[in-house]
Amino acid sequence: MSDANRVPRHAAIIMDGNGRWARKRGLPRTVGHQRGGDRIHPVALACARKGIEYLTLYAFSTENWNRPPSEVAALLHLLSTKMESVARACLRDNIRLTLVGSIDGLSLESQQKVKAAIDMTAGNNGLTLCIAFDYGTRREIARAAERLASQGAVPAAIDEEQVSANLYTSGMPDVDLLIRCGGEIRLSNFLMWQAAYAELYFTEVLWPDFGDGDVDEALVEYARRNRRFGALPDGASS
Ligand code: FPP
Repeated sequence: MSDANRVPRHAAIIMDGNGRWARKRGLPRTVGHQRGGDRIHPVALACARKGIEYLTLYAFSTENWNRPPSEVAALLHLLSTKMESVARACLRDNIRLTLVGSIDGLSLESQQKVKAAIDMTAGNNGLTLCIAFDYGTRREIARAAERLASQGAVPAAIDEEQVSANLYTSGMPDVDLLIRCGGEIRLSNFLMWQAAYAELYFTEVLWPDFGDGDVDEALVEYARRNRRFGALPDGASS
């Protein structure tokens, strides 16, 4: 049933369009990523105020390593530096910062900075802001299979619950609303297990321009959708 007040429990965003935002202004792509990083806390706060419990943002995919080394280096640097300022702002707003994926590809110093940022907000109990870093669903599922095998799981007893429990997102609810900025219409290996029944929302707005009004628009559209999870609509069985 559609319901004008229905809010997703878990929203996820593919923060696309940083490069185009910069190019339109004659700026280096890395400036676009910096501006994109500046949107993280305001958008998380807007989501928290709407009653969303979990917000997962796609910051770096397992395929992003294929970008030019200078851009990869800038993104890795941005993550380790920006996480600290995002965490400070989150601490004040009762937002808990977490991460899915891997930080193994960062220097030890950067890994420590990211861990310190996450620890800073561990006592908060408002919105969970989850940064997907070096994340890809295919690797996540392969890793879950590896974990199950190494735990000695009985093949015939492996079910969806056991797979879910071994994903990076274990303990988090499924994605209800998946937003992609920047005009592309694809999922790019992002939360494809968790978003199996998510409502998809694509917008032309480039991530560095994504504001509170854009959050509102996505939520209005979400509330209009009829979620059936594979069942029939009410009254359609006769
Ligand atoms: C996609 O835009 C964006 C990314 C690959 C990186 C997103 C990262 C951030 C917004 C900053 C992350 C910071 C923290 C603290 C998590 P694109 O480069 O593909 O843009 P384009 O399609 O216009 O080229």
